[in-house]
Amino acid sequence: MQVHVADHPLVSHKLTVLRDERTDSPTFRRLADELVTLLAYEATRDVRVEAVEVQTPVAKAKGVRLSNPRPLVVPILRAGLGMLDGMQRLLPTAEVGFLGMVRNEETLEATTYAERLPDDLAGRQCYVLDPMLATGGTLAAAIDFLVKRGADQITAVCLIAAPEGIARMEAELADIDVPVTLVTAGRDERLNEKGYIVPGLGDAGDRLYGVVG
Ligand code: URA
Repeated sequence: MQVHVADHPLVSHKLTVLRDERTDSPTFRRLADELVTLLAYEATRDVRVEAVEVQTPVAKAKGVRLSNPRPLVVPILRAGLGMLDGMQRLLPTAEVGFLGMVRNEETLEATTYAERLPDDLAGRQCYVLDPMLATGGTLAAAIDFLVKRGADQITAVCLIAAPEGIARMEAELADIDVPVTLVTAGRDERLNEKGYIVPGLGDAGDRLYGVVG
């Protein structure tokens, strides 16, 4: 797995405000959206395009357009939804599929509770959105799911990644032929005993959408 930590002062600035516990939900949502758009720029560096020619008012020009099949963007519910608009801003013609995964807070294992994806992902580039790469269980399970459906290139976009999660992804995906890239705004220090990223930003879903029981 290739890991790309976006190195840009605007990325660091927005991430710092997201981390701040005083940042309220509306501001958090707006900044997460802006940050994802910056990460999307990095994440789509290898998006597939094909050559086209257009007529400008002056002359013919060689250019490119996105290839078919279109990329598939897969936010992992619930917190990944807060990243969808920012990604679609750069890839408005991408298709969107949904994966609902929940982490058991005792075992920290991920299970799938909802799925709306094409049956056949052969030839598709997939962009998985999950703000917090903590233990890596959810993301590894999501990527495994997409690979089994035939996806042939996967990029995970995460706001923050923990070293433990990156290591687990590398171990679990070691036997997968499909190239996987992680694009993130920050590689943090560690996980705490509750599986939260340190220093992190807290519970991303709660900070985006409020606490549900
Ligand atoms: N999920 C979150 O929302 N935050 C963490 O720190 C870890 C997992």
